[in-house]
Amino acid sequence: MDNINVTRSTLPPYEEYCAEIRELWDSRWLTNMGAKHEKLRLELKNRLGSEHLELFTNGHLSIESAIEAMGLAGEVITTPFTFASTTHAIVRSGLDPIFCDIDPANFTIDATKIESLITEKTSAILPVHVYGNVCDVEAIQHIAKKYHLKVIYDAAHTFGVRYKGRSVGNFGDASCFSFHATKVFHTIEGGAVAYRDEDFGRRLAKLKNFGLDGPDDASEIGGNAKLDEFRAAMGLCDLRHIDEEIATRKRVVERYREQLGGVPGIQLNPIQPDVMSNYAYFPIVINEAVFGADRSQVMTALAAQSIHARKYFYPLTSEFSCYKGRFDPGRTPIAKQVSRRVLTLPLYPELPLDIVDRICGIVLSCKK
Ligand SMILES: Cc1ncc(COP(=O)(O)O)c(C=O)c1O
Repeated sequence: MDNINVTRSTLPPYEEYCAEIRELWDSRWLTNMGAKHEKLRLELKNRLGSEHLELFTNGHLSIESAIEAMGLAGEVITTPFTFASTTHAIVRSGLDPIFCDIDPANFTIDATKIESLITEKTSAILPVHVYGNVCDVEAIQHIAKKYHLKVIYDAAHTFGVRYKGRSVGNFGDASCFSFHATKVFHTIEGGAVAYRDEDFGRRLAKLKNFGLDGPDDASEIGGNAKLDEFRAAMGLCDLRHIDEEIATRKRVVERYREQLGGVPGIQLNPIQPDVMSNYAYFPIVINEAVFGADRSQVMTALAAQSIHARKYFYPLTSEFSCYKGRFDPGRTPIAKQVSRRVLTLPLYPELPLDIVDRICGIVLSCKK
């Protein structure tokens, strides 16, 4: 039986990609902000409705570059219920992550717990729109304004998500997207920062290109985080199909919800009011005491049928061995509990609905 993985990368028709890269053989301009890069930047800026947008070689370096361009120092309030990248970006920038607990209903930062974590060393809040769920952007903005803090959103999961009609990229000082191969929209590897402040943007653009100002000087100690033309071409192709792909994802999610909604002991990812979702992930949170089986039992039952769900996100980033002894995961008890109960089920546009039915059948067969 073919393996069903938690995700499967989408690809445009082969001929479409070949046609898109054909002219690179004439221009020989393969990277360094060429024509494809600029075209993709403008198309994404329009698509995401952001004032400004800078492309990056991946989402992780977009976060590190945004932190550096913003000149953050000291402490950054964030959550440990995320992918390694969010926390690593803060620590690799020489800053201290201060972990805030999450909202048990949508798994994003619990905005009511942020203020008690603010000290004179706090310079920013770095919340994650986890699974594409939108953080409490209004409360976060209110706090940031009151304490003069910067806000950088990890928007890696949120391509195309809108809140009250506005793209998620329009909240905070910057929003960092990932265009990794497994994401709703991808450039194989890639990322972007959506932002408003032009001075910040100028620094950001420089930092991704060795800090160069031109051929004769570098005014910043920058790195290299440029998106090349071949990957920009993949993005241009992907964009032509994205609406159809999100619509297909929606059908898969609806099928899951029909069968797993209302099952005692299974909490589904919420449908958030005023949010237009991108249907990026389908996490379920299993309460063993009510459901009668735990997350591992369900995962094992699925794996026996070649269906590979993921404990996404487990463990908390604050529990990684590289941070041993540095953080106390007990200080974010809800995040800890969710990470022990969550199971992310397969979801991608080409996932057949009869496979979704099979997955749901296996999950429900574990119920005691
Ligand atoms: C929440 C989150 N932040 C950041 C990243 C990093 O993005 P990338 O893999 O494009 O570097 C990811 C990626 O998978 C992610 O899930």
